[in-house]
Amino acid sequence: MKIVKPPSTALSPVPVVLVSCGVDRPNLITLAWAGVACSEPPVIGIGVRPGRFSHPLIAEAGQFVVNIPRADQVGILDYCGNVSGRDVDKWAACGLTPAKASQVRVPLVAECPVALECRVIHCVSLGSHDLFLGQVVAVQADEELLTAEGRLDYTRAQLLAYVGGDYWQMGGPVGHYGDWRPIKRTK
Ligand SMILES: Cc1cc2nc3c(=O)[nH]c(=O)nc-3n(C[C@H](O)[C@H](O)[C@H](O)COP(=O)(O)O)c2cc1C
Repeated sequence: MKIVKPPSTALSPVPVVLVSCGVDRPNLITLAWAGVACSEPPVIGIGVRPGRFSHPLIAEAGQFVVNIPRADQVGILDYCGNVSGRDVDKWAACGLTPAKASQVRVPLVAECPVALECRVIHCVSLGSHDLFLGQVVAVQADEELLTAEGRLDYTRAQLLAYVGGDYWQMGGPVGHYGDWRPIKRTK
């Protein structure tokens, strides 16, 4: 039997990412309200509260970078989600290196394995959060994550997820897209 609960953001798991924003004095913000919105063109949506120091940095530059952290960077992620760039230089505090992006002026986090460079194409005010839709204009990935064919192998990336306030390390794949036939045969 199901119990009806009040409406909430109960979707789980969700990614948790480190977004770099701002050009002259770049900042970092941890976001869990982030997801793929479109494949062609590739678009990522991020939900940011208007009161965040990062909000005007994203709005004014019209650019941001989604950095995907490793599980062992969870402390950095939590720190960047609990202190403000108004008070602290989070790059220096975390010992992170701003690296040049290829298509945007916002730096990426050199220590994170994957970075999605985004240009804002829409901003929608939804209530508590504004949804910035960013078209992905380039992806940078550590060489070690690439297969011989140049495909991104996320099993090598120690991915993290966010589940109801907890950070979870991903356990690894249990199936593959299009692999429904073997499952059917076992029935
Ligand atoms: C795990 C986690 C997820 C978060 N997700 C979001 C989010 O999706 N949107 C948002 O506006 N703030 C989110 N925050 C809060 C901001 O990261 C936090 O307020 C941060 O200190 C803002 O930094 P800033 O003032 O430098 O912009 C999250 C914090 C944590 C720890």
